[in-house]
Amino acid sequence: MKTQRVLTGITTSGTPHLGNYVGAIRPTVRASRLDQVESFYFLADYHALIKVGEPARVQRSTLEIAATWLACGLDPEKVTFYRQSDIPEIPELTWFLTCVTGKGVLNRAHAYKASVDKNTAANADPDAGVTAGLFMYPVLMAADILMFNAHQVPVGRDQIQHIEMARDIAASFNHLYGEHFTLPEAAIEEHVATLPGLDGRKMSKSYDNTIPLFVPREQLKKLIMGIVTDSRAPGEPKSTDGSALFQLYQAFASTEETAALAKAYADGIAWGEAKQVLFERLDREIAPLRLVYDELIQEPERIEKTLKAGAEKARAIATPFTSKLRHAVGLRPLQLAAAPVVSKGSKSAAPSFKQYREPDGLFYFKLLDAQGALLLQSTGFTAPRDAAQAMMRLQREGNVALEALSGQLASRGDPAAVSAALQSFSEQAD
Ligand code: TRP
Repeated sequence: MKTQRVLTGITTSGTPHLGNYVGAIRPTVRASRLDQVESFYFLADYHALIKVGEPARVQRSTLEIAATWLACGLDPEKVTFYRQSDIPEIPELTWFLTCVTGKGVLNRAHAYKASVDKNTAANADPDAGVTAGLFMYPVLMAADILMFNAHQVPVGRDQIQHIEMARDIAASFNHLYGEHFTLPEAAIEEHVATLPGLDGRKMSKSYDNTIPLFVPREQLKKLIMGIVTDSRAPGEPKSTDGSALFQLYQAFASTEETAALAKAYADGIAWGEAKQVLFERLDREIAPLRLVYDELIQEPERIEKTLKAGAEKARAIATPFTSKLRHAVGLRPLQLAAAPVVSKGSKSAAPSFKQYREPDGLFYFKLLDAQGALLLQSTGFTAPRDAAQAMMRLQREGNVALEALSGQLASRGDPAAVSAALQSFSEQAD
């Protein structure tokens, strides 16, 4: 099986809270330990500039988030751990992608639309207070993802639209310039994607209802005691449904522990006691991490060094890939002979892939040689996207993919002819 590339970033605009930990940090650190996974984790500090106009806060947040990730067990030897602004190729790619992104697509981005709707409701200019940075946010994010050809992007639900946009942008670029980008997919943790905050709404900086991950133990306790509950008295049965306290507990506890608390709710546990149970459970998991965090945060130069080493690893991929992309879009040394312009009409002179649907409702593809003879025939796929991805892999990886995908090929023609045809696609992409 080919390695899956997993990539995610955190915007360096605040202090990591329990919601970030449960929704992003903990699952990604766990996933990074799996074999067959190549992970890329980064500090999205360019993104921070969109929302934060305080340099000191961006810097502090970058330090805190980096320390958090390391304290939570991210191994910078095993993963590629870097800071977005250490990769100058990212803004360069952002520009390439900007040029294939429909403005109308960006008009529909949730964050931008929310600002416009708010302005419209207030009878203000629709774009009042909206920077071009906010508008371009999804393109910068697409560049983050596409630069490393990530397959999976673990994110919160609110980011799904951004991943879909990254896919669309990648597809547009691929269509125009050849198959350079993998189409990424959002990976959502189904049960614990969003945590409630102190007031019961989604835990979020913008609601000012967060519980920071690494506050001192006593402060953590104080915050937990402040979580809103209903006014049921001790002894009265309580509903777990819609209880922020219960949802927080569930995100940390085992199934048995959760069942036990549900029973305690039904038996009328006092809110104060339930909060104590939650606090103890949280602190059991967090205390050892807090110890490491407190140490790391005292040594910013060590973290800086780790990030610089990560950037070097990331750029070992980003620099050559960007050169390839520069070439693909036509930013080339002038002495190189111009490649013959391949127009759509001359396609019949080269091998080609065809995707189609059969009456059985399944999606298929085939590879034909320049004369139209059948070289490869796929088995049926239920999703057109899967057929397209297999096809794309063959174009990009040639014979290597041929072996990996052998289960999805119903028939193959002469190996030498197949190999030559596939070769022509990867050359075209170069
Ligand atoms: N937009 C993401 C957030 O606010 C952070 C982010 C930036 C990101 N670039 C990314 C996440 C690329 C995943 C992949 O949560």
